Amino acid sequence: MRRQARRWKGSVVSSAPSFLERHEFLLRRLHSLAGLVPVGAYMMVHLAVNASVFGSPRIFQRLVFHIHSLGPVLPLVEWTFIFLPIIFHGAFGLFITTGVKPNIEAYPYNSNLRYTLQRATGVIAFLFIFWHVFHMHGWFHNHFWVTYVAHPLMGAEFSPYNAGSSAALAMQASFLVPVLYTIGILAVVFHFSNGLFTLGITWGIWISPTAQERAKLLANVVFVIFAVAGMASIVGLYSMSQEKIAEVRAEEDEAYKVLVETGDIVPNPEKHSPLSEYAPGKHSDAEESDVEEGE
Ligand code: HEM
Ligand code: HEM
Repeated sequence: MRRQARRWKGSVVSSAPSFLERHEFLLRRLHSLAGLVPVGAYMMVHLAVNASVFGSPRIFQRLVFHIHSLGPVLPLVEWTFIFLPIIFHGAFGLFITTGVKPNIEAYPYNSNLRYTLQRATGVIAFLFIFWHVFHMHGWFHNHFWVTYVAHPLMGAEFSPYNAGSSAALAMQASFLVPVLYTIGILAVVFHFSNGLFTLGITWGIWISPTAQERAKLLANVVFVIFAVAGMASIVGLYSMSQEKIAEVRAEEDEAYKVLVETGDIVPNPEKHSPLSEYAPGKHSDAEESDVEEGE
């Protein structure tokens, strides 16, 4: 390990290479890999699931019930496979972008425009995901946090047991919401699709100019597919009328009752919209136990 001597306030101190310098190659490879799996893979599945709300809020609810059937294990899965990898990829990406961690492996093959857009969309993605997860999920599901911090700040608006109806109300909270989602989706999807192209260079998958041309085409196709999927869910949620939202909520409550009876999901009033008949405090204890006992 190379050690340097440098002067600090008149005295000579020795400085070892920083953690980032010592592990730069490994961190770069992990950053690149994390962009594809699990973060990129999650984004593709997430946008596909959300797009289902455009055609059928019922299918959307079924998929969300499926995810939430994990019960108490869900936060562990979310933190291990979604939150921590995004935090790692995003934080290291910001180091690269802000020059704290200089990009010494500048892409000799990539155009300057793509290079700049990759960094700009990374910053937008960071801001968008930070806000979006707060807006829908709330970051933490602790009762105190959700009631006294998240809800007053327009966060934790999504109720998993009333998926379509609560997501529609969250999307319609202000005209700014769909605008921010549109900017966020286009930035994240561009970042991911262009990232697929640069990732192939990082890992030496496409080297010849012909292979790179094909890779650019693939990146463009991926961009169009997921941009359309993302926009479909924004339009589907934003355009849902109040009557339709009430109808969807009633169907969600009906499905909840059946799934609790069959034991497929764990009853949890906190996962309902405040407008649901199963919202905390609305359903009497007697009725709640009827649902649990499968009457
Ligand atoms: C049209 C666009 C989108 C819609 C309608 C949407 C909707 C949602 C909803 C409803 C949730 C809450 C899920 C829950 O708590 O069970 C959520 C969570 C989340 N979304 Fe999105 N999302 C969109 C785009 C994105 C994009 C582009 C990303 C970037 C990867 C993203 C990342 C996340 C993350 C990390 C979470 C938290 C994980 C979790 O709740 O399990 N979303 N989103
Ligand atoms: C959270 C905010 C994010 C930031 C700040 C960020 C930043 C970056 C940066 C700066 C790069 C270029 C790395 C380099 O030049 O060596 C990059 C690459 C990449 N990012 Fe992100 N990113 C973020 C989110 C995402 C998301 C949500 C995805 C997937 C949906 C993603 C997927 C990728 C991919 C696939 C690459 C290409 C890796 C490579 O070239 O080897 N990133 N990111």
